[in-house]
Amino acid sequence: MSWLLKSSIGKKLIMSISGIVLVLFLLFHVSMNVTAVFSEDAYNAICALLGANWYAVAATAGLGAIVAIHFIYAIILTLQNRKARGNDRYAVNSRPKNVEWASQNMLALGIIVVGFMLLHFSQFWYKMMFAEIMGHHEVELGGNMVSPQDGAAFIKYYFSHLWVVIAYLVWYVALWFHLSHGFWSSVQTIGWNSKIWMNRWKVIGQVLATVICLGFAFVTIYFYAKSLCLFA
Ligand code: HEM
Repeated sequence: MSWLLKSSIGKKLIMSISGIVLVLFLLFHVSMNVTAVFSEDAYNAICALLGANWYAVAATAGLGAIVAIHFIYAIILTLQNRKARGNDRYAVNSRPKNVEWASQNMLALGIIVVGFMLLHFSQFWYKMMFAEIMGHHEVELGGNMVSPQDGAAFIKYYFSHLWVVIAYLVWYVALWFHLSHGFWSSVQTIGWNSKIWMNRWKVIGQVLATVICLGFAFVTIYFYAKSLCLFA
């Protein structure tokens, strides 16, 4: 088992598997959020299910651990690669053929994604699940008191602010590049990399990244447009 933690391929495998689990979470999260567009009641029912219940808190702790592992191993692997390449690190600027921009910037993209995640947690998770765990039945949101399970109220409030909408859209762009390369790269590491499937996985990764990011963007833009009373 120690090869998993020590060898370079073992570390890559940990990155790949944790990354794929995070993609599965994102697929769940985006489906959940798109629900809000069609029914705010249904969305709030899901938020109540994901509140301070033991299984939801356990899942959040597991998710937090996976994000931490994915992030820490990304830093370890990047440092290792840089050390192996010595002073050639700057040769990265003259990009080798067929190596996409995203693949050269995965750590930077990941740091941007995590940075915006901290903003997201302070706006949603902290005032919802965490507030519930702390025993609060009401939290302050834009001068009003709302239930920490009223996810629809949070979405409507935050996505009525243009700066939040722009920040989230920038976040989705960074996430798109990170996922489109990351998914493909994970599959390669796991070993599903026959010649024919190389390109197929690339397309599948791009479709997945697009579905996830467009889904989030749709929810964000929909609620901003709604806040401007563009439709009922
Ligand atoms: C339209 C965009 C989004 C909306 C409306 C949204 C909404 C929410 C809400 C309401 C929660 C709190 C759930 C609860 O604690 O009961 C939450 C938690 C979370 N969000 Fe988002 N989210 C969005 C985009 C994203 C994106 C793009 C990511 C990651 C890249 C993300 C990652 C997370 C994570 C990791 C949690 C904590 C999950 C947990 O408590 O287990 N979210 N989000």
